[in-house]
Amino acid sequence: MGRDIQTALSETKRMFEIITAPEVSLETRKKIARETTENFANNINKGFLEYRKSVTESGEFAVTEWSGQGSILKDALDREFIDALGGFGIYSPGIRHPKIVAAVKAQLDRSPQYSQEMLDPLRAHLMKVLSMLTPGEIQYGFFINSGTEAVEGAMKLAKLYTGKSGFISMLKSFHGKTLGALSLMGKSVFRKPLLPLLEGVRHVPFGDYKAVEDALKAAQQVGDGIAAVVAEPIQGEAGAIVPPDDFWPNIRKICDRYGVLLIADEVQTGFGRTGKIFGVDHWDVAPDIMCLGKALGGGVMPMSAFISTPKIWKCMEPNPFIHTSTTGGNPLACAAALAHINVMLEEDLPGQAAEKGAYILSKLEELKSNYPKILAFTHGKGLLIGMEFFSDEIGYKVASGLFSRRVLTAGTLNNSKNIRIEPALNVSYEIINEILNRLEDTFKSIN
Ligand SMILES: Cc1ncc(COP(=O)(O)O)c(C=O)c1O
Repeated sequence: MGRDIQTALSETKRMFEIITAPEVSLETRKKIARETTENFANNINKGFLEYRKSVTESGEFAVTEWSGQGSILKDALDREFIDALGGFGIYSPGIRHPKIVAAVKAQLDRSPQYSQEMLDPLRAHLMKVLSMLTPGEIQYGFFINSGTEAVEGAMKLAKLYTGKSGFISMLKSFHGKTLGALSLMGKSVFRKPLLPLLEGVRHVPFGDYKAVEDALKAAQQVGDGIAAVVAEPIQGEAGAIVPPDDFWPNIRKICDRYGVLLIADEVQTGFGRTGKIFGVDHWDVAPDIMCLGKALGGGVMPMSAFISTPKIWKCMEPNPFIHTSTTGGNPLACAAALAHINVMLEEDLPGQAAEKGAYILSKLEELKSNYPKILAFTHGKGLLIGMEFFSDEIGYKVASGLFSRRVLTAGTLNNSKNIRIEPALNVSYEIINEILNRLEDTFKSIN
């Protein structure tokens, strides 16, 4: 575009006025909606718009997000959408939970970032509180801003502690897209264009503990050192795939037997999403390292962490700067996380997720038998629910049919055969029934 200081000045002034205005007229919002599409095409990625267009049909891809509360999002034209996607799992307490917003606003007036030189009180306090919720001996942690960074940190910690560099990861897994996390990823569509990635990562079928043991045995036989086995308690991005009940208890035992660490990537399953505080709680397993993210910041601030036991964390003590982040665990993010944990416990979000998830799954089973050519399988626990369709084409039609009925769901980017339902954990039964009605209406229209 070329340098244009004057326009940059006037554009920032205009947006500042819009952001800070108590009311923005419909005319202005319409203009913003038009500009947003243009800006995405010119400054973000045209492919993104093309993808939206095909999923959402008839120009609806230009929908521009404006505001939200609880389980309802409004676009710039004041149209309401039901949020059954939860921002891929960040909105567990709902959009803009008043308590979490209040905590962040108040902290903003005290100190938004830390000096980097003094000790900030919220970060350590948050970790102390987290250690009261986590399984096993977990007590230490490092805060960053995204789930991917949590996975990167967990990988570094496992390498530092064990002195080994290999990992066993799961097919179809999702751990983020930076080069380290991508090495663990179980999908070729994201990995293949970036090969070679980290050496020494072996992938085995998710849910098959014998395959984990075989991979460790093979690594031992050829002299490859394995630092850790990494898995999501329930695979989220793959479509809410629940492993057999013997999987997690057995990989725990196998890791101990082979002297390998066990990393649970709870970025999506943590904080009540699956009906327990953490996904591994379904099987009473204590991992050595956990990755947290998404909902940790209460849907208000980006926030993530990798956390572990005192025994393992000791390897970070000689040089505490071995892993750093300038903005990770900033006071706003910590205030959000502390308020979110309070909301999660006070509102019993895990309990709500368990009960409401069971209700939705039972209703989906009914839909499955009433529409046997559309819905093939249902998966999930709590409010991490996957609908598996007979083909990509059907899934695509369901995703676009739901969008045109103003329900947001997570059809996975490269696989619309699986669509996730991941609403706020305190979503009302009234809204749940509305989602189910609109889903059935969509099924009817494509039957
Ligand atoms: C299990 C898991 N780990 C890691 C990530 C990456 O998190 P982020 O997108 O915040 O970097 C995701 C994101 O979907 C995830 O589901």
